[in-house]
Amino acid sequence: MSLLELDAVDAYYGESHILRDLSFTVEEGDICALLGRNGAGKTTTLRSVAGATPPEVRDGTITFAGSDVTGMLAEDVSVRGLSLVPEERRIFSNLTVAENLHLAEVVSNRSNTVGRSVQVTREGMSTEEVYEYFPRLDERADQRGGTLSGGEQQMLAIARALKQNTDLLMLDEPYEGLAPQIIEAVEAAVERISENGTTILLVEQNAMAAMDIADSCYVIDQGAIVFGGTADELRGDEETRDRYLGV
Ligand SMILES: Nc1ncnc2c1ncn2[C@@H]1O[C@H](COP(=O)(O)OP(=O)(O)O)[C@@H](O)[C@H]1O
Ligand SMILES: [Mg+2]
Repeated sequence: MSLLELDAVDAYYGESHILRDLSFTVEEGDICALLGRNGAGKTTTLRSVAGATPPEVRDGTITFAGSDVTGMLAEDVSVRGLSLVPEERRIFSNLTVAENLHLAEVVSNRSNTVGRSVQVTREGMSTEEVYEYFPRLDERADQRGGTLSGGEQQMLAIARALKQNTDLLMLDEPYEGLAPQIIEAVEAAVERISENGTTILLVEQNAMAAMDIADSCYVIDQGAIVFGGTADELRGDEETRDRYLGV
């Protein structure tokens, strides 16, 4: 059984039909990359899975860890162990790194104990564990979020997700706006998180960087999957890369 399965999903913003009969799976333990040009439907896919509105899923099924989560409230999906780190990162600029992490923990504990009939499978990491993944954040623990570099803010956004019970971590363009050296640092952290047993769905326009660490790859165009295969298969498929990714 796949950890995440989208089966013939159709999603809309009002009358705009964005995701069209979209199907793909993410296998437990994998780093899965969802690649495509700007406007292809990547963020819409992640928001549909996470239960964020808009968009509205009007047809098809989204299954996460064996449960049908189609149309479920975002908090009910999240408590099942699915975290989305959105493109805009959404850290608190006026709070310190340590406060940002503490708040993530409080929110996680509250939603775990609020009485939902959901079996929580994974405890969130402690702050100490999170700092092992991101030593840089440990050094900056007392610095306000707003004063961090782009790369450090991305690390903090991922770190916040790790403080919650995360079986599937979905990252929306984590490399955007980062220098190559910083991309490598984030990449290394994502690989370690994966080795620790968290499944990753990595959405990127930076296809080359994503292929570096991905086990499986999908390419999305105009709201539909146009390629599915291993990273090696995508590297070898010049036509697909050229036509849909421009690399
Ligand atoms: N809130 C919205 N309302 C209406 N249309 C939207 C909205 N968000 C995105 N779209 C449209 O949906 C399509 C897919 O967007 P998106 O999923 O953000 O693409 P990507 O993340 O791949 O760049 C685009 O045509 C975009 O203009
Ligand atoms: Mg996007």
